[in-house]
Amino acid sequence: MSATIIDGKKTSSDIKRELADEVAQLKKVGITPKLVVVLVGEDPASEIYVKNKEKACDLVGIDSVKHLLPASTSQKELLDLVNKLNNDDSVNGILVQLPLPKQIDENAIILAIDPEKDVDGFHPINVGALMIGTATFSSCTPSGCIELLKRYNIKIEGSKAVVVGRSNIVGKPVAMMLLHENATVELCHSRTRDLAAETRQADILIAGIGKPKFITADMVKPGAAVIDVGINRTEDGLCGDVDFEAVKEVASAITPVPRGVGPMTIAMLLRNTVTAAKMHAAKGRK
Ligand code: GUN
Repeated sequence: MSATIIDGKKTSSDIKRELADEVAQLKKVGITPKLVVVLVGEDPASEIYVKNKEKACDLVGIDSVKHLLPASTSQKELLDLVNKLNNDDSVNGILVQLPLPKQIDENAIILAIDPEKDVDGFHPINVGALMIGTATFSSCTPSGCIELLKRYNIKIEGSKAVVVGRSNIVGKPVAMMLLHENATVELCHSRTRDLAAETRQADILIAGIGKPKFITADMVKPGAAVIDVGINRTEDGLCGDVDFEAVKEVASAITPVPRGVGPMTIAMLLRNTVTAAKMHAAKGRK
């Protein structure tokens, strides 16, 4: 039997609709959430992401401002802009699109963003809060994975979850979130011995490796839920880290690429921005 295809595009639209209702209510009490997106240089993939973020903000009623800086921007210039945005009370969320040109230290920029405006959830304060279970903003792609599992009624509690890939923006945070949801979590990576033996034990398998079609059908337990975080541009077009056509015949549920986790990242970013706006208003800022 073929798997349920988890529709991230539809789920993202549902969430955006819910957020639009919430933003309409907030506007009635004088709160308009505002997101500032900073893009340095002309990476085509980043330009598409930034455009999609703007479009999504418009749809939901969030004010969005875009700063496009040349690829030659210095670290000092970017830090100055971040500081200006930190001090601007009208700004609720700051997102600096990654990757940054090589003359700029990404960690220095992430550290400079006010943790209360860090809607990406990348600042070490927010990463630490995720670790101890007190996170206000958690990173958007991992949150999107958890949201999909929940909205498709896939039981996380008590399940064995295997995460492949240990990046700071996907593998590590999603492993922590699954743990908070009471899964038994295993975090695998490129040095894991006999990876297939590990992945075959997963009730929930999360792939965030960055290699096209890396997870093959023989690596998946029959009936598992498979969440594919990969976005790989190949000669044949976009594909995930999972061999979708083969794995969907083994899994009970699976996310496609595109229209899977990708659209959820933006929905979670908008949700974090609304959360930031509410938090700032409660502290007397609007
Ligand atoms: N580049 C790719 N994904 C992301 C993301 O979620 N946030 C930021 N800031 N940059 C990215």
